[in-house]
Amino acid sequence: MAYYFDEPSHTFGEYLLVPGYSSTDCVPTNVNLQTPLVKFKKGEQSPIRLNIPLVSAIMQAVSDDKMAIALAREGGLSFIYGSQSIADEAAMVARVKSYKAGFVTSDSNIKPDQTLEDVLALTQRTGHSTIAVTEDGSANGKLLGIVTSRDYRVSRMPLDLKVSEFMTKFEDLICADETTSLKTANDIIWEHKLNSLPLVDKQGHLKYMVFRKDYASHKENENELLDSHKRYMVGAGINTRDFAERVPALVEAGADVLCIDSSEGFTEWQKITIDFIRQKYGDTVKVGAGNVVDKEGFLFLAKAGADFVKVGIGGGSICITREQKGIGRGQATALIEVVKARDEYFEETGVYVPVCSDGGIVYDYHMTLALAMGADFIMLGRYFSRFDESPTNRVMVNGTYMKEYWGEGSNRARNWQRYDMGGDKKLSFEEGVDSYVPYAGSLKDNVTLSLNKVRSTMCNCGVLSIPELQRNARITLVSATSIVEGGSHDVVLKDSNISGYSYK
Ligand code: XMP
Repeated sequence: MAYYFDEPSHTFGEYLLVPGYSSTDCVPTNVNLQTPLVKFKKGEQSPIRLNIPLVSAIMQAVSDDKMAIALAREGGLSFIYGSQSIADEAAMVARVKSYKAGFVTSDSNIKPDQTLEDVLALTQRTGHSTIAVTEDGSANGKLLGIVTSRDYRVSRMPLDLKVSEFMTKFEDLICADETTSLKTANDIIWEHKLNSLPLVDKQGHLKYMVFRKDYASHKENENELLDSHKRYMVGAGINTRDFAERVPALVEAGADVLCIDSSEGFTEWQKITIDFIRQKYGDTVKVGAGNVVDKEGFLFLAKAGADFVKVGIGGGSICITREQKGIGRGQATALIEVVKARDEYFEETGVYVPVCSDGGIVYDYHMTLALAMGADFIMLGRYFSRFDESPTNRVMVNGTYMKEYWGEGSNRARNWQRYDMGGDKKLSFEEGVDSYVPYAGSLKDNVTLSLNKVRSTMCNCGVLSIPELQRNARITLVSATSIVEGGSHDVVLKDSNISGYSYK
């Protein structure tokens, strides 16, 4: 007879936190959000700790080098998507490791024979108002000029006017040599009242842009996630197929941690992949594994040597695995069971294997709940895809700015390895959708706001750190009626944006 789980499985939306006693020192500024990323022994500290408990999902629409830099700057970590060629993934990792704060690789570029109409489309798509005009339209092509909103008036100029006719030409631009320090670049910007300064090499090829508006963010952020050489830390996704070639390339490029990216991780393929890494690198290369939704899955991966274990099947916003295959489990129930297994495993072996709750975060308070339920850190896709720093286009849909967001199991991603159970290379059905999410602005502003809410809730619970929250949180299941009671009700809203749930 089949095995039946006793209880229905639940999602985050069905739980609330019950406040605990808070002393007067329990204020948000005193809350410490540091958390372990990889396993460690009792009495020791994790060799890699995040400064905030957020990591970005291993997805084409979420985690490229730009996202990784923005998130590491705030203290979190991105896992660069593995559903691309080994060379391209390694190049993204290498770009994060060689990133120089304040020096931006231009990602709004155009050719001189393109038109004003192209400029407007590019501005709308990227949200940037400074466009580099290069010979071949690439980020590092020969710089011919710059276009900003000061260079054109849409009402007075034909849309088919060539960029070369209204751009500020190279000879009229103030540029600096590629070796210029950030301090000198900022001095030039202030002295000449510029909004941006292009840095070029001896041949006049564009290397970087330095922007006046970024000045404040050039100053060191105390939360930044840095390696021992003061470079930003970055993770990378791998699969259970081409690991023998992909892992060495990513290690060589400087990846700080790897993660096997699979929709279902309770498989021998994951053990084979971890074995390969242990044989070649011992414990020096860190690798997470997953995804699992129960005790057995966790124990299998912990014993196989995973440095952390990722939890979640089918709870992601773009996932249709549950509809397509009928597998999965409510994210909260899965997490609670895996966390219990992690704690028992720690008791028995003295080895703490951090748990990552992956997918299904809708409201900011779900982050606090996931941590309270015992997650050490949280992986988010939809959340990060809405920001300026995600790799996808910003588009106007019905008068509102949206960003594109698609699942790794969608036709668009063509990431069949993530869903590969060792049989056919290409499955014949999708496990994810292609969608839009409301554009939400900069990562920094959003992460600051979300984590301020997390800190504030932690103070309501009377705790100042994630381990304390995990030990002391009091969590209650709520009835369907009390969920309705939790939102504004029985009133007519004047402005639907004030509900605070605008990103749903
Ligand atoms: P959120 O809810 O943050 O979830 O958008 C992100 C997580 O969803 C998983 N993922 C998928 N799951 N089909 C699935 O069943 C897909 O196409 C897909 N793409 C991503 C993944 O774990 C990610 O971190």
